Amino acid sequence: MKKLFRFLVITIGVTVGVAAAAAAFVYVRGVPTYEPEKSNFVHVSSPASIERGRKLSSMLCANCHLDDQTGKLSGKRMLDAPPEFGIANSANITRDEEFGIGNYTDGELVVLLRTGVKRNGQYAPPYMAKLPHLSDEDMNAIISFLRSDDPWVQAVHTPAPPCEPSLLTKFLCNTAFKPLPMPKQSIASPDTSNRVELGRYLAHNLDCYACHSGDFTKMDILRPENSFRYFGGGNLPLNFEGKPVMTSNITPDKETGIGLWSEDTFVRALKYGILDGQDALRYPMVPYVQLSDYEAGAIYAYLMTIPPIHNSIPRN
Ligand code: HEC
Ligand code: HEC
Repeated sequence: MKKLFRFLVITIGVTVGVAAAAAAFVYVRGVPTYEPEKSNFVHVSSPASIERGRKLSSMLCANCHLDDQTGKLSGKRMLDAPPEFGIANSANITRDEEFGIGNYTDGELVVLLRTGVKRNGQYAPPYMAKLPHLSDEDMNAIISFLRSDDPWVQAVHTPAPPCEPSLLTKFLCNTAFKPLPMPKQSIASPDTSNRVELGRYLAHNLDCYACHSGDFTKMDILRPENSFRYFGGGNLPLNFEGKPVMTSNITPDKETGIGLWSEDTFVRALKYGILDGQDALRYPMVPYVQLSDYEAGAIYAYLMTIPPIHNSIPRN
């Protein structure tokens, strides 16, 4: 008995010791750094690419980077980031050369947005967007916009406060989250005359699948279709009060998804947040007013082709 007890004490002692050492290591090492991949991409801007870039950035970047105080993409405290991740402040991405991204080269921006590695080599934690599937044309559009004279990106000469990642964030960035590979080939834009193809492109690149699948920790960013409960809902993103709002099942299941919805009903819900006979859709589901009816309808057309998942989501 005594021997067994001693054995247990030693085992527990060793386990606790190893865990403490691992925690200390992660704490000191912090969010890991990598050798950033190289890209010699140089943007080519035109009025059309800047306009397209503004539209994409308004859906893909502004939610996190637009500061109400300055009216520019100068960064802000992200109140809807899970508190377990620590304090998340989005960066100043205006054209300012000292505190914004005026000194980032186009290639460095592409590497950051594709792989998640910053120019200084640090991995950008999960609360910063990664765009592995965006077409080269759309990447060019976003960068053209970031370099344009648009009021949103005019230099703001104040630094955004740094993030204070929690031990959990540091731990996950050392274990679960890894930089994505740089695409080996160019990525073509979808054929816009093919509604299903366009819809799939938008549903993946506008991150619909990430929120609308079953679990953020089980999503497959390189192969979105392999994400756990793809579009079947149940994920719990937070609103600005830090409260979870469960995401809807938007697979074509007739009972628990949107299988019986008309395209019109879908387009109104997506673009304006309006649901017939129910309260409006709540944050973090934002109205996608920027989408044309054709684009919103294309997402509907795509969703109607994916496997239905029977999963009833109560609206809390
Ligand atoms: C979900 C929120 C979110 C979205 C969406 C988002 N960002 Fe960020 N971004 C962040 C946060 C938070 C940081 C700060 C990360 C850090 O300091 O570790 C950041 C940092 C950056 C940086 C600075 C990297 C550095 O070297 O310090 C750039 C550039 C950037 N984002 C560009 C973009 C662009 C362009 C888009 C749209 C395509 C975008 N972000 C979308 C949250 C977001
Ligand atoms: C940040 C997470 C997030 C993103 C990104 C997101 N949604 Fe949502 N969506 C939600 C949440 C949460 C709800 C439920 C809101 C509520 O119950 O008020 C919702 C509701 C909906 C609904 C209503 C479904 C129903 O049964 O009532 C539709 C349709 C929808 N989203 C489509 C989309 C599409 C298409 C995209 C991409 C363009 C998208 N969403 C992107 C979080 C998100």
